[in-house]
Amino acid sequence: MSVPVKRVIVSGGAGNIAYSLLFRIASGDLLGPNQAIALYILDIPQAIDGLEGVRMELEDCAFPLLKDIRVGTDPEILFQDVDYALLVGAKPRGPGMERKDLLMENAKIFIEHGKAMNNVATEDVKVLVVGNPCNTNCLIAMHHAPRIDRKNFMSMTRLDQNRAMSLLAQKANADVCDVSQVAIWGNHSATQVPDFVNAKIRGHSTLELIPDRHWLETDFIKTVQQRGAAIIKARGKSSAASAANAVIDSVRCLHEETPEDDWFSLGVCSDGNPYGIAEDLIFSFPCRSRGEGDYEIVPDIPWDSFLKEKIQLTEKELLEEKALIEEMLAKKV
Ligand code: NAD
Ligand code: LMR
Repeated sequence: MSVPVKRVIVSGGAGNIAYSLLFRIASGDLLGPNQAIALYILDIPQAIDGLEGVRMELEDCAFPLLKDIRVGTDPEILFQDVDYALLVGAKPRGPGMERKDLLMENAKIFIEHGKAMNNVATEDVKVLVVGNPCNTNCLIAMHHAPRIDRKNFMSMTRLDQNRAMSLLAQKANADVCDVSQVAIWGNHSATQVPDFVNAKIRGHSTLELIPDRHWLETDFIKTVQQRGAAIIKARGKSSAASAANAVIDSVRCLHEETPEDDWFSLGVCSDGNPYGIAEDLIFSFPCRSRGEGDYEIVPDIPWDSFLKEKIQLTEKELLEEKALIEEMLAKKV
């Protein structure tokens, strides 16, 4: 039985991450082996040759699921009727920078793309923001697209979750499949809180299998928080294949029923519930899906005093980023 084609837009289509992501989407990794796909690939006019190159390579793969490829530089055309908007296009940070140093420069992109989605995307488009600082960029896009449900705006913290899972597995001498219930709370930044308190390894408390709370509170958290910077230092460029992989994981989680004893991390709009995080921030929470493209925030996960203090810090950082943006918009910079 044939199912309607799903339209997926990737911005930043001539960039580093897109070069991994587009081919995985087209091969069926994003929406499954039975879902035909149209890929809309957006970049800026200076990148048009790169976009054409990507188009040629996609054609040369002869992917059976890929029914249409459109490349271009006009968001008002390419966001038309899309089902998924994967917003990767943004400047990456260089060595020594924090992601929030990109805020002023990248904000303009998310204002433009938010407006374009508001004008021409389907009402139920699902938006995943990857371009940094992704939480606040997502907030900006959401504010410029009031026609689209706030619930549909998400930012990517899955890469942080995957990093945390790998590290815990290595330390416990376990398989990564044995690690579950790993939440990232807050911002995709150096204040993010990878939650080892509630994480499980082989169904047991992480603290039972890694009885070294000092390591968990220091090296573990710091390594996850600083992994992006470590990759930039090593590669001279920011993470790309692992970021693309995390995009795939983030979207797939929405379409697969989350096992009862697990959750996944996603930056979503806070309405103050159920953890008392300030409203109108894109904050990473542990989420679950019923497998219908939706999610809900998992309630009642306990915070000990250590987690609580760290979570307050990441919330404070997001409030500061939001205040900066409000100031910028008030000045119409
Ligand atoms: P890149 O520089 O290789 O590619 C970015 C692309 O975006 C370029 O081709 C550029 O021309 C394009 N672009 C710029 N302005 C645009 C606009 N207005 N519309 C459409 N496209 C535009 O960068 P990259 O390595 O692919 O990284 C992209 C972003 O993703 C960066 O901000 C990076 O920091 C971020 N990132 C986030 C995560 C995460 O976990 N959330 C992980 C890795 C990277
Ligand atoms: C990452 O976490 O790898 C990305 O956000 C890129 C970066 O700037 O660290």
